[in-house]
Amino acid sequence: MKNTVVLGTQWGDEGKGKLVDLLSENYEAVVRFQGGNNAGHTIVIGENTYKLRLIPSGIFHQKTCILGNGVVIDPKVLLEEFDILQKAGVGIEKLYISERAQVIMPYHKVWEGIEENHRGKNKIGTTLKGIGPCYSDKISRNGVRICDICDKDQLRKRLEIVFPLKQKTIEAHGEMSPTLDEICEQYTKYGELLKKHVTSTSLLLEEYIASKKPILFEGAQGVFLDIDHGIYPFVTSSNTCAGAASLGSGVPPSSLHNIVGVVKAYTTRVGGGPFPTELEDEIGERLGTVGQEFGTVTGRKRRCGWLDTVLLKCTHRINGLTSIALTKLDVLSGIEEIKICTKYHYKDQVIDHFPNSLSIIEELEPVYKTLPGWTEDITMCKNFDDLPDNCKAYIKEIELLLDVSVDIISVGPERSQTIFK
Ligand code: GDP
Ligand code: IMO
Ligand code: MG
Repeated sequence: MKNTVVLGTQWGDEGKGKLVDLLSENYEAVVRFQGGNNAGHTIVIGENTYKLRLIPSGIFHQKTCILGNGVVIDPKVLLEEFDILQKAGVGIEKLYISERAQVIMPYHKVWEGIEENHRGKNKIGTTLKGIGPCYSDKISRNGVRICDICDKDQLRKRLEIVFPLKQKTIEAHGEMSPTLDEICEQYTKYGELLKKHVTSTSLLLEEYIASKKPILFEGAQGVFLDIDHGIYPFVTSSNTCAGAASLGSGVPPSSLHNIVGVVKAYTTRVGGGPFPTELEDEIGERLGTVGQEFGTVTGRKRRCGWLDTVLLKCTHRINGLTSIALTKLDVLSGIEEIKICTKYHYKDQVIDHFPNSLSIIEELEPVYKTLPGWTEDITMCKNFDDLPDNCKAYIKEIELLLDVSVDIISVGPERSQTIFK
């Protein structure tokens, strides 16, 4: 068994949570390596639906679950998640948190609100969870780490250095942050509650690698939200690509073997920014309604459009996908003709790679290949051969265009609604 990274290939919400829950049965450890509670991963087990924002989706199989050093942690949200799981009878004894993970502080959320307001009509449409300001502080070396909140004196020392400037900046914009004393008291309490889960997770993972116990890495967001490779500035503040699994959990790049790209059978996006294949018509509405496309974290309506293989080729180039898990294929049932974007027109040019300049991206006109749809309900299909011919043809076309095999097909939110090809 090899170590595997599960990655969102588009703009997030591809169904990573479902996939990770399903696959984790065959792994010993499941690791989140970036992002924070901007993620919302939905897992449907029988009648029950769980929405996880921080804890890896492997928790339901009672695997070792790790929040790596690359994750940003809002302790309050994490503790709320502990409660939800404990009430559902799901043990969290095997959950470990990296000492090095950065902590989302109250002033991060306040500052993000100020920044988004200041951007006005150009706002990014962030989740307002403090993700961007927390990563900014990490990079500018003003962050607070999990190991700091687990040590009362160290936390105070740290805050005495970084907090006064935060406070002045926030107050200069007419907003308020809790005081240093209030933060110290609250975050020391969080530290006490989390302490028993905190460890050097890189060392722990070294043991798993040495004893060949397979590890599953759970990506959050999607490649087109990556801070380097997404459509800047309409991105999140972390690297969402496969390479981040190594840095964000402290394992060597050579220990990442399989890269599974989760591809939604159409495209969705929450928040602002360009979306070349967006459908602002009744098909877009239909995808949103049938696919229940509402943000897990913010409840916002997700924008919907056709599958875009120019975008996916870029994803493949950066991440070297070893296979694809195609999700939400059932949502396309009943659409007469299904379109796949294969290239773009920009002015009088044909573009078959994803451009870098925002002004070009904003003016791209997608060029589509049209395939016949299918009318059958596929949510009960268990084998590839049970699928209607036009549905199989759609999958084959994706494989041909991307030169990656589709090995897993998801035809509904529940664990059992999955076809392994
Ligand atoms: P994630 O962030 O990538 O984990 O995805 P989300 O959980 O935010 O969004 C995916 C949504 O689609 C969730 O509500 C899932 O329960 C649901 N889902 C996952 N796979 C399928 C599928 O194959 N068909 C349908 N209809 N829903 C699915
Ligand atoms: P999962 O893991 C979809 C989007 C936000 C916004 C942009 C920046 O569930 O797929 P941020 O709060 O991260 O600074 O917001 O990124 N975004 C997501 N969109 N799924 C997610 O996570 C997302 N996490 C962030 O909507 O456009
Ligand atoms: Mg999600």
